[in-house]
Formats: sequence, structure tokens, C-alpha cells
Amino acid sequence: MAEGADQEMDLLHRTHTCGNLRGPDAGKTVVLTGWVETKRDLGGFVFVDLRDRHGVTQVTFDPTGGNVLFTTAQDLRPESVIGVEGVVASRGRNTNKELPTGEIEVRATRVEVFSRADTPPFTVTDETTANEDLRLKYRYLDLRRRPIAKNIVLRHRIAKAARDYFDRQGFLEIETPFLTRSTPEGARDYLVPSRVNPGRFYALPQSPQLFKQLLMVAGMDRYFQIVRCFRDEDLRADRQPEFTQIDVEMSFADVDSIAGLIEGLLQQLFREVSGVEIPAPFRRLTWDEAVRDYGTDKPDLRFDLRLVDLTVPVRTRDGGGVGLFRKAVEAGGIVKALAVRAPNTLTRTDIDKLEDQVKQLGSKGLARAKIEAPGQWTLAPWAKDMDPHLKAEIEHLCAVNPGDVILLQFGRARDVNLHLASLRQTLARKFGMVKPGEHAFAWITDFPLLEYSEEEQRYVACHHPFTSPRPVDVEKLENAPGAVKAQAYDIVLNGFELGGGSIRIHDRDLQSRVFTALGIGEAEAQSKFGFLLEAFRYGAPPHGGIALGLDRLAMLMAGADSLRDVVAFPKTARAVDLMTEAPAGVDERQLEELRIRLKA
Ligand code: AMO
Repeated sequence: MAEGADQEMDLLHRTHTCGNLRGPDAGKTVVLTGWVETKRDLGGFVFVDLRDRHGVTQVTFDPTGGNVLFTTAQDLRPESVIGVEGVVASRGRNTNKELPTGEIEVRATRVEVFSRADTPPFTVTDETTANEDLRLKYRYLDLRRRPIAKNIVLRHRIAKAARDYFDRQGFLEIETPFLTRSTPEGARDYLVPSRVNPGRFYALPQSPQLFKQLLMVAGMDRYFQIVRCFRDEDLRADRQPEFTQIDVEMSFADVDSIAGLIEGLLQQLFREVSGVEIPAPFRRLTWDEAVRDYGTDKPDLRFDLRLVDLTVPVRTRDGGGVGLFRKAVEAGGIVKALAVRAPNTLTRTDIDKLEDQVKQLGSKGLARAKIEAPGQWTLAPWAKDMDPHLKAEIEHLCAVNPGDVILLQFGRARDVNLHLASLRQTLARKFGMVKPGEHAFAWITDFPLLEYSEEEQRYVACHHPFTSPRPVDVEKLENAPGAVKAQAYDIVLNGFELGGGSIRIHDRDLQSRVFTALGIGEAEAQSKFGFLLEAFRYGAPPHGGIALGLDRLAMLMAGADSLRDVVAFPKTARAVDLMTEAPAGVDERQLEELRIRLKA
């Protein structure tokens, strides 16, 4: 350390952050530290906007402060780290109303350059045109930008408020292993080879599901954890390969007690972090209702645009003279519509764009009809031979008037719902049906326990194999497995799945019946989950739980469009960390130690 450096550091120990100072502080001698955001050299004066994560303060240097001070200021480069001692002065008429510290400036009497910066690869400003890959490569610079920095602060506040809430409710935060066995969440695992056990692999947890259930068997009663989970799956704006859950499990719980706990949590988080009061209890829809009315199990309920199911009238009239309708219902498909009421008029071009949208999702096209007068439809050559009774019925069910437009899809239920749910979202955006700042929470309950996988030619668990069926449906497990509903629930917010959970099976007989329905034999169950099944032999309390996606919650609370905006060091859609360049190749020696040979 340079001579006298101790003394210097002491002198320049910061007294305030760059976001602290206000008008009444005028006259105080202060020390600020931070990064040079901008420097303007106006000949007689040098103005520096000094930034730290708390804000920006204008610092002025004038030649009367001494030559060294002034020339140091003239030489300052953006992003250099400096300490400044000075006197707070009012900016009077020059107040900058855009800045919280805009009433004052600090007139420097001393400056110390802690670190000189090279020209950064992009200019660190709130609004930026730098491309995202560059920003991710230099994420530490991107994190200096206030819009990102404030999200990281928000995320901290959410985690802190969640911990406080659960602590008050008598929950224990308990860590569970990362080097573990495959968990049953249904994505691909990230595998970690074991050097000391050649040929064997750990799986990074897709969630702590089995451990939290074991903690219930262990009598821990109320568990939570803010925990990293790892899933090798196709990534989207709301999916990262590693993400964080607020994970919860409770003994002696039922759906209502878990819903109440989580509603309380979300009310507390929104109140404490965003100053927003969220009304509770949240709306509840069964999975059947959600899919029927909105075409999806994560409906955006900020607007009440509903799908209209026309399958029954179409089937009753054997297609009503429309060949495509008849074929669709004969093949077990459905017919559904969305009514767009005037004055939200859609032009032909608008409808063509909507057609492109559904085509991209795999639809063959978008049937449409403009209602000119009752029974008189235009844009609808497909309907020219339609039975007038069916027409009247459709008009009635869609509640349309002259000027309105009906958009239709027919075919496999899953496709029809997917396409119309996507149109619903676009129409709401186009017609400004979403009020900014609105939070539409809802519980989606009674999910199917099992769904048939065409790929695997068997039933698979919709949630995971430990999810309890509804007691009234247990008898259907053997004869009508597809009709069994689960004690499983998701919480949705503004069209995003924020969390999901279930009441678990704690009865061994019921568990083996569910395994049988899933086509999981005794041997497979033992090899995959034997330790959990064994634990259930030694006294398992009834239990249930839920996990909320912390990243998704932070994204929605921040009003961001992507998880990347609320994760300090996120990965790209190809699961790459552009900064560290992970994943990377490894040394031949490391592979040898692990007894791994790469295929050519
Ligand atoms: P589930 O698989 O529904 O449930 O996950 C819970 C929540 O985690 C979030 N999430 C993700 N967030 C970002 N990127 C991802 N790749 C990702 N995958 C999931 C979502 C989701 O709602 N063990 C069960 C919970 C339980 O039954 O208690 C589970 O993990 O917000």
C-alpha cells in the first residue's frame, strides 16, 4: 500500500451514498464514492455525474479548488471509480427535477481516483441500445444500469420479506442437497459425474420435492427454502435452466390451508415490497373451467374475454351443413369461438395477421365471420351452406350484434384451446383491455391426475407421482384413470404460472395404485423412489406443499418481460453463460479421472 494511503482512505470514507443528499443538506461537508457516469468539461468547470447503486449526484470541480484537483477532474474517464470530498450546495434555479438529488450538487474539494477505467464495451446508461448478448457478456457493467440494478434490489426485498413471513408462521428454512438423485419433475436432469464412484452420476435437483416430503416424515412440520433448482428443458423468456423456488411443505395441511398461507405471503410481499394491497381470498377456478373458458390452465384474468364452446350445437346438428365442422366433431374434436365485439373492429388485415399467428402454432387457418345482420355473415365462404338454425344458435351463444366478428377454431381440443388462448392474449393487447398495474391472481384447482402421453403410450403424472387424487375420484383409478382429478393446484398471475403444488399421497396402498395407473412397476418404483416409500412405512403425516417461482414473481413485480432482467447472472436461450463462457470443454485429465470418454 502506498505511503499515507491509510490516511487517504480514512479521509475518503464515504459519508453518504450518491442517492442520499437533498436540499436541506446544503452546507454539509460530505464524501461520496462511486463510478463516473458522465463528465462534462465546460472549460471553467468540470461536471461529473457520480453513480452508485443508490443514485446519481452531480459533482462540480472548479479551478479555484487547486490545479491538481482540477486537472484530475479533467482527466476522469467514464466508469472510473473515485472518491470525492466536497461541500453540498443548492443548485437553485438549476435544480434537476428528474433526479432525486437534483436540488443539490457537491462542490469538490478533494478527489481520489481508486481505479481508472478503460472505455467500456458499451455506454452504461439507463436507456441502452447495446445488444443483449453484449450486455450479458459484460453483465457486471449491465448491472450498473439502474433498471437492472433496481430489479436485483427488488429481488432481495422479496426474498427477505418471504423469509420473515415464513419465520413468523413457524416455518424452518432447511437446506437440501444439490448432489442428489433424479427428482420426478419431468424435465431432463443435469448430471454430475462422481469421480470417487466411477460410472455413477448425481442429478442436480429439479426441485427438493422428495427431500421436503422426507422432512415431513422427520417431523419438521413446516418447511420452506429459497432454493435453486435445475432443469434441462427448452428455454423461454420465463424459463431459465437454473432458477429459484420459494419451496414450501406443511404437515396436516389441506388445499385451503396452503392457499391461505400463500395468499398471506403474496399479500405481505406486495404490501412490503411494492406498497400494493392485494385483495384475498384469490379467485378459484377448476382446471376444467379454466380450459373451457380461457383455453389454458394459466389464464390472464385481467380481462374477461371468454372462449365460447360451440361443440354441442354443432354436434347436435351434425355439422349444420359445414363439412369441416362435421369432420372435426366426428373425429372427437371440438369447435370453439372468440367473439370480437364492435367498436373493437378488426380489419381484414388484422384478421389475416391473427391467422398467421395461429398458423405458426400449427393451425390450418382461422375461420371468421363478420355479422352484418342476424343470419347474414360475410368473410365466411365456409358458412355459406350453414343451417340457419345453427347460425342463429352461434350468434346467440357468442352474444354478437351487427358489426361484430366471430373467430373460430375446430379440431383436437388441445390445439383449438392453444390457438384461441393465444388469440385472446393478442386481442386483449390490441384493444387495450389490460390496465397497467393490475394483478389478477387465481388458483387453478382440480388438475387431472394423469394425462395420456402419445409419445410414451401410457399415462404420465400431470404434476408428479406423489400427488394425491381427490378422495371422490380414487375409485376411478383403475377403470377411468383419465377422469381422476388431483388435489393439485397452480397459482397464476396475469397469465403466468407462478407456482404449483399438491396434497401428497401418504398412504402406501394408494401410492401403489397410482404407480400402477402410471405403469410404474414395483421394481421401478423401488429403484427410483425406494427411500421415500420406505420412509412412509415409519409414520408419515398427511402433508402437502407448493413451490413458487421466485424469478417469475420478481419478473412480474418488476414489470419486466424476461427472467433475464431479474437474475444477476442469467443464461441465454441456449443455456449459455456468455460471461464465463459456461458450459466449456474440460481437460482430458479431468475426463480420465471421471472415466469419461467423449464420443467423436
Ligand atoms: P413446478 O414444477 O410446478 O413444481 O415448479 C414450481 C414453479 O417453479 C417455477 N419454474 C420455473 N421458473 C423458471 N424457470 C424454469 N425453468 C422453471 N420451472 C419451474 C414456476 C413453477 O410454477 N416440486 C413441485 C412443487 C410442489 O409440488 O410442491 C415443483 O417443482 O413458477
